[in-house]
Amino acid sequence: MCIFAVRVFLGILLLCAWCQCLECPFGCECFAITRTVKCVSKDLYTVPQSIPGYARTVIITGNNIQRIGPESFTELENVTNIILSNNRISEMASHSFSALINLRFLDLSGNHLALIHPEALSIPGSPLQELNLSCALFNFTALTDLTTALRWVAFSILSNFFRI
Ligand SMILES: *[C@@H]1O[C@H](CO)[C@@H](O)[C@H](O)[C@H]1NC(C)=O
Ligand SMILES: *[C@@H]1O[C@H](CO)[C@@H](O)[C@H](O)[C@H]1NC(C)=O
Ligand SMILES: *[C@@H]1O[C@H](CO)[C@@H](O)[C@H](O)[C@H]1NC(C)=O
Repeated sequence: MCIFAVRVFLGILLLCAWCQCLECPFGCECFAITRTVKCVSKDLYTVPQSIPGYARTVIITGNNIQRIGPESFTELENVTNIILSNNRISEMASHSFSALINLRFLDLSGNHLALIHPEALSIPGSPLQELNLSCALFNFTALTDLTTALRWVAFSILSNFFRI
């Protein structure tokens, strides 16, 4: 009886240790006090899932993430800043960031963006205020596509305005 109880207790302890590991995605470091999650130069091929909900700043740089899509970032209401520099991103699909309803600053610098969907940057409420696109575009076609995507953002700002 007693041994059984000890075993159960140990089992619960182990489970708790395991849960604590799960609180931060593999390949990342999570800082609850500064509300920052960093996944730097870990050779990641996709955006890590289960980023903690408290995160305000997400820094994912120096990885191998080639595509960003609507599945990349799920609801993270507290995220305001995302730094995605130097990840070899070549494709941004439709509504890549639309779950991030408070995203103000997006850094895409140092990528190879070639395919940018017209609604890649559309987010409900158009919260985006600053985009870093330094060395982010693959060629002139990408620049044209980006211009279209930005026009869609401007259009949604306008439609918000008219809804008021
Ligand atoms: C976002 O932050 C607020 C305030 O700290 C907190 O109450 C809320 O639970 C956070 N959201 C998530 C999804 O964790
Ligand atoms: C934009 O990105 C470049 C290259 O990564 C960096 O040097 C610069 O400081 C960034 N600017 C801002 C405002 O973050
Ligand atoms: C830019 O790159 C894309 C993807 O490789 C290609 O389809 C497109 O034709 C290129 N545009 C120019 C102007 O070279």
